[in-house]
Order: sequence, then structure tokens, then C-alpha cells
Amino acid sequence: MSNHPRGRRKSATRGTASKRTSSAKTGPRRGPVDPADPGAELRRRIEQAETGGGPERVRRQHESGKLTARERVHALVDPGTFEEMDKLVLHRCNDFGMSAKHIPGDGVVTGHGMVDARPVFLFAQDFTVFGGSLSEAYAQKICKVMDLAMKVGVPIVGLCDSGGARIQEGVVSLAGYADIFLRNVLASGVVPQISAIMGPCAGGSVYSPAITDFNLMVEKTSYMFITGPEVIRTVTHEEVSKEELGGAETHASRSGVAHFMVRDDRGGLALIRRLLSFLPSNNMEEAPRRPTDDDPERLVEALNRLIPENPNHPYDIKELIHLVVDDQQFLEVHERFARNIVVGFAHLGGRSVGIVANQPAHLAGTLDIDGSVKAARFVRTCDAFNIPLITFEDVPGFLPGTDQEFRGIIRHGAKLLYAFAEATVPKVTVVTRKAYGGAYCVMASKQIRADLNYAYPSAEFAVMGPEGAVNILYRKELESARDPKALREQKIKEFRKKFANPYVAAERGYIDEVIEPHTTRPKLITALNLLANKRDQNPPRKHGNIPL
Ligand code: HXC
Repeated sequence: MSNHPRGRRKSATRGTASKRTSSAKTGPRRGPVDPADPGAELRRRIEQAETGGGPERVRRQHESGKLTARERVHALVDPGTFEEMDKLVLHRCNDFGMSAKHIPGDGVVTGHGMVDARPVFLFAQDFTVFGGSLSEAYAQKICKVMDLAMKVGVPIVGLCDSGGARIQEGVVSLAGYADIFLRNVLASGVVPQISAIMGPCAGGSVYSPAITDFNLMVEKTSYMFITGPEVIRTVTHEEVSKEELGGAETHASRSGVAHFMVRDDRGGLALIRRLLSFLPSNNMEEAPRRPTDDDPERLVEALNRLIPENPNHPYDIKELIHLVVDDQQFLEVHERFARNIVVGFAHLGGRSVGIVANQPAHLAGTLDIDGSVKAARFVRTCDAFNIPLITFEDVPGFLPGTDQEFRGIIRHGAKLLYAFAEATVPKVTVVTRKAYGGAYCVMASKQIRADLNYAYPSAEFAVMGPEGAVNILYRKELESARDPKALREQKIKEFRKKFANPYVAAERGYIDEVIEPHTTRPKLITALNLLANKRDQNPPRKHGNIPL
């Protein structure tokens, strides 16, 4: 049955307002089938389900800037394509007076629809029904669509707006969460999973979105935390607001829990549609191609002027990305988090690609803990879903300092190395400027199985920057020199001449070709076409042991 808004308006005329508002208190009336109109009972139940928690709660939902669960679903899918399942499911709790409170559907809307004519399974938590809290029956509804999505190889989208475990159901509700978590884990890397937090998401329930591939939060109306401000005040005596603790801004910029932050529900749903356009429906498929009029042979003269002559001057790597990709369209992931590395999706010659790029305009493009973890997760997401990786490299090394060392930059940086090395999708690297130290190895170097490695004439390959290198290599000479400053400058010049170019790497074949920047787009598109049928694999094993 179609639940397109047009259909719903029609059915709404068949009931009365008073009947609808009373549904939560009295439960569904089980009337006899009327032989003159056998569909009447069905229509009544459907109407009751679609009314959710009733007009008053819907009004409050709208007042707080949120859409209802069904409004969200219809804004997400192609018009007229949503097919709802389990619309008449009821909870089975008899405690705390719950047997007198039944709303068909029980607080979560589940089913499937199309996004850009491709199927998705989805669930949308309905805060107007028992605060969107999760019961046993509600969890089973979610598990049912997840199981189907896995069987048929279709993405799962979850729209979250819930007070968490239904308190009246106790451990049965907790078990329902665990059932969902298990499915999130089993679906990981098989079908894309996207979560949108559009209201409360607290306690252990945060772990379902946390396991999914992408997590989006709506500004001002959503929050996620393990323990709320009250508990924190009691335990640690810290004063913190709900927004500061777990709002969209916090998770998009500080914790990295949210990959995207959007202004409102509609913006979030549009973003999910866009995100899905880069992803295949499952790990056995390729991402859909996006036709473009952008010439694959397009040369970009501006790129010849983008890299500053002074190697210590910053530039914005996002400018380079926009100039190279199809139609200048780049969907950045984790835009506000760990800005020293840029990751996101684009199309090149119509093919979906994942881009990983050091950002010289932030922390000089160094790799730190957050940046390494952010990029490692992205690389693994692309690899899981057959999306080729394009790496733009300009990295002076890992970020020095006790803070980073004490917090484990060694094991976190290793995650990025591991992710790039393990990835078997096509991997193409362009070194725009610095490829220094361990970061050279990490950032999709030839030695960790990148397929095609290019470098601009401005590229520099060295164990470290000339200043640091000269301080170590010539310490004694500098200490005893009559004019240490002049000697230092001379040695830096010599070092730069030797290493600050791409030719030593090119002579050894670590770089396949030194290219002029304006040719970047055609070079990358040719490389992707060439690598389209790439087959590579890792040794058979239960699973690798990424240093988590
Ligand atoms: C049952 C719940 C509920 C819950 C809300 N409601 N949360 N019912 N179980 N968990 C009901 C309320 O009783 C109320 O019903 C209606 O939903 C709307 O809630 P309000 O409190 O009126 O709304 P609001 O003021 O907007 O506050 C929303 C809220 C608050 C912040 C989410 O309801 C709240 O703090 N709820 C409890 C959150 C929580 O601690 N959950 C457990 C998290 S731990 P009426 O009929 O009065 O309108 C968890 C464990 C998961 O979930 C474990 C996984 C392993």
C-alpha cells in the first residue's frame, strides 16, 4: 500500500478527530468486520497508526522544529514510493497500565522506498508515540527491515528520535537494542548504513548510530550522549548543558561522532539522498555512475598557480579538489572535525570516488590522532563499498608533541597506515608538495599497494623537512661554526636541492609519473578507467587486527 501524502490526506477524511486523539488512551478498538464494508476496520486501524501520538503531540513536535516520523520518511524517498511494513504491530507490555495504551505501529515507522529510483530500507522513530521509546515489538520491526535489507543487498537508513529503552519494558527493551546492535555489526561492510539523529539519542542507544557508516545530526534539535548532564553533575560535579555535551556542533567538530551537521530535518534528508548517490547498494555492486557534461580532458590552468613557491606557505587543498572533480561537486565528510585532513566523495568522469587529502591550511597538514582516525575510517568505508581512493598528499609529517604521544599517536596513526595498506580498491595518489617521513609511507605510497602514484614538480620527498634535517645532520659543525646562521642556510639550501623535488622518487619508480598540475583531471580519469577492473585481495584469514 502506498503511503504517499496524497493517499494519506484521502484516508484522513474517513475518520473523526475525536477518535484519533483518543487512540493512545483507549488502545485500538477491535470491531467486528462490517459485511457491507469489509475494508472499514482496516482503514480505521491504518488511520489510527498514521495519527501517531495524536494532534497535540504532533503540534509539539512541529513547534520544536521537527518533522514527524512519517513526514521525514516521505521527504526522504521518491514521491509515492514508500511501502510501510508492520503498521499494525502492537507492544506486548501489560505493566504500568500499558495494556490500556496501544498505538498501532508502536512508535516506529518501518518499510522501504526508493531514493533516485534505487531501493532503501528504513525506519523512523516516532517521538510522538511513547517518546519514540524502544519496546520489544518496536525492536523486532527494526530487525525485520534490517534482515530484509541484508538479504536483498539494500542500504538501511535509520531516522532516530527517541527517549531510548522503553522504561516500562525493562530488560526486554534492552535485549531489543542488543538485537539491533548485532544486526548493525553484521551488516557493516555489506550494505551501507546511515543514521540521522533528529531528536534525543541517549544511553546505550547511541551505539547503533555509532556502528553505522555515517551519522548525521540536526542542529539544535538533536543530541547524543551516554550519560546526560544530570548524571554528570552527580558523578563528576561538572556543569554542562545538553547542547554543549552532545549537540550537533559538539559531535561534528569535537568528538567526531557525527559525520555531518545539518540545519534542519529537510536539509538532513536531502543530504542522505545525496550521500546515497555516491554509494553502491551493497558490497557486491559498484557505485552508480553519474553522467556529466564536464569534459574528462579538461585542463585546469589555475592548478599551476595554486601551490605557493614558498614551501612553508599554506594553500587550501579543497580548492584543488573542487577544480579537479566533476562539476566542482564535492561532498565533504567530517567537514568540521580534524580539519588537517579532508575526506569526502566526488565523481571523476562519472565514477564515484573517495578523496583523502592533507590540508596545508590547517596545522600545516600534519597528521594527528583525530586526522588519522577520521581518514582511516573513511578509507575503510570506501574500500568496503568498492569506491576508488584518490589521495592528494602534502604532509610535513605527524604532529609532534607530548599531548599526541601520550594519547597514542603511534597506534592511532597506525590505523591510517593499516587502512590504506589493506584497501584493495583502485588507489591513485598525487603528491602535490611534501611527502615527509612516516607520513610518506602512510599516505597511499607505492610501497603499500597504491596503483598509480603521481607527483607535481613541486613535490618534495624526504625523511623530514630541511630545517630539522640540517639541525640533526650538522649539529657539531653548527655548534663550532664562526657564522652558524650562514652555514645553516647553506646546508638547508643544499638539502633542499637534493630532496625537495620529485626526481629521486621518480628515478626509483616510487612515482610513476611527474605531471604538470593542470593535467590532474585527465590523468586521474584515465587512471580510474584503467583500474576499473582491478582485482586484488588480502591473505585468507578470519579478520585482520587493526590497532583499535
Ligand atoms: C518510556 C518514555 C521514555 C522512555 C520518554 N518517554 N522517554 N516512555 N520510556 N525511555 C515518554 C514520556 O513519559 C512522555 O510520555 C513522552 O515520552 C514524551 O516525553 P517528555 O519527557 O514529555 O518529552 P521531553 O520533555 O521532550 O523530554 C524528552 C526526553 C525525556 C529528554 C527524552 O523523556 C527523557 O529524559 N526520557 C528518558 C531518557 C532516558 O534516560 N532513556 C533511557 C536511556 S538509556 P507522556 O505520556 O507523559 O507524554 C537507554 C538504554 C539503551 O536507552 C540500552 C541499550 C543497550
